[in-house]
Amino acid sequence: HMTEMHQLTRTKQTTLKSLNVCVSLSSTVCMTNCPTLIVLVGLPARGKTYISKKLTRYLNWIGVPTKEFNVGQYRRECLKIYKSFEFFRPDNEEGLKIRRQCAMAALNDVRQYLSVEGGQVAVFDATNTTRERRGTIVKFAEQNGFKVFFVESVCEDPDVIAQNIVQVKLGSPDYIHTNTEEAIEDFMKRIKCYESSYQPLDEVLDRDLSYIKIMDVGRRYLVNRVLDHIQSRIVYYLMNIHITPRSIYLCRHGESDLNIKGRIGGDSGLSARGKEFASRLRKFIQDQNIKDLKVWTSQMKRTIQTAECLGVPYEQWKSLNEIDAGVCEEMMYEEIQEHYPLEFALRDQDKYRYRYPKGESYEDLVQRLEPVIMELERQENVLVICHQAVMRCLLAYFLDKTADELPYLKCSLHSVLKLTPMAYGCKVESVCLGVEAVNTHRNRPEVGITMNEKLFQPAHSPDVFKFVVKYHVS
Ligand code: ADP
Ligand code: F6P
Repeated sequence: HMTEMHQLTRTKQTTLKSLNVCVSLSSTVCMTNCPTLIVLVGLPARGKTYISKKLTRYLNWIGVPTKEFNVGQYRRECLKIYKSFEFFRPDNEEGLKIRRQCAMAALNDVRQYLSVEGGQVAVFDATNTTRERRGTIVKFAEQNGFKVFFVESVCEDPDVIAQNIVQVKLGSPDYIHTNTEEAIEDFMKRIKCYESSYQPLDEVLDRDLSYIKIMDVGRRYLVNRVLDHIQSRIVYYLMNIHITPRSIYLCRHGESDLNIKGRIGGDSGLSARGKEFASRLRKFIQDQNIKDLKVWTSQMKRTIQTAECLGVPYEQWKSLNEIDAGVCEEMMYEEIQEHYPLEFALRDQDKYRYRYPKGESYEDLVQRLEPVIMELERQENVLVICHQAVMRCLLAYFLDKTADELPYLKCSLHSVLKLTPMAYGCKVESVCLGVEAVNTHRNRPEVGITMNEKLFQPAHSPDVFKFVVKYHVS
């Protein structure tokens, strides 16, 4: 098993010759690619859950299996009804006991996820505000061969805290039966309960730990002992995100000549309807009255022609070019099925990972689009005019879709998706600009593929076509 390979438990047989005794020391050695436990630190309403969810979504999207473990949820499961902040008082013995039990239950699930289920990163979302609690977690990680990386959010701006409470805490299951004012007051008291025992990560005392301290919502950072590639990517990501309100608009180019012919790929220009979409897009964007809108396209004619109609400056990105269908470029799906039946079937079996001969897979595309996502995180209002497969990848990132769902996301021509970050997720509005276009979406084959192992034989095997595939071509 992969994770077992990462985690090597070694028994040292040290012979102390002079005493002529044999000592057995059991220790767990952390390998370079052993699983990582990310541990959030901070008072309530400092964006820990927000950061946990966002980081988890990003890591999963780039292909690192990641799961978040929110101790608050364990507490809510254990204690079905939340009464008040009293539960969190530092002198509430019963409360402390339950909270410790919940943290332990969550850590147990972390172990299961990282050691048994093949997870690579676990995000442990709790306050973890005392050095003692962090010590327990470090010990737990050592025993299991996990690396620990702390992410602390420090923020004392009362406006930010008040805003955070309104944005996410009032909607929490803890306060469904409480009115707004009472809920705010209770939550402020809850924060107070943690303040007296809070020990922030300390430059001297915690100098051996790996961590990033995010100060004042990303105005400043303190980064300490980054130990590997994944930690540096986490730091890089966390240093690029912001919470300024904005919207991201995603659309495809206007309908192209090859779209009309039912051919994939190529580099054709817009059809008459495609041009009509471009001019409606201009009106739509004007009506939205967006502050400092940036417009990005690919380097393909159809997205450039679409952007040209807008009458605003735009930037071309090579990484936004459509998936390269290799030997299948400019073919119709029916032709691919006829000329390359095996390839066609393989793509239906695992559309995300399937790579066209001399071309790309969706998985490749996600890697190519990572810098685009990072720059989208840095920017405010952006309109991205792209392509079907590219738009699916970008959308999957924002909507937290799995690799399995991603290649089948519906991204119709002539519709604009407006994504607005809200609380922990994203509001999605789909706007159809009312210009007809061909449908380029091919549904997931409905009936599972009946295949035999022959499919996995080398392509030159004469037996290779002995499988039955039922397609549903739309
Ligand atoms: P916590 O888990 O610490 O109790 P939440 O994650 O529930 O806090 O708070 C969510 C809010 O935090 C969101 O409204 C988000 O805009 C805000 N937020 C995100 N990042 C930060 C940060 N680095 N510092 C403070 N607030 C943040
Ligand atoms: O048909 C338009 C198009 O953008 C092609 O260029 C591309 O190969 C295809 O869509 C991607 O969609 P799918 O992965 O469903 O074939």
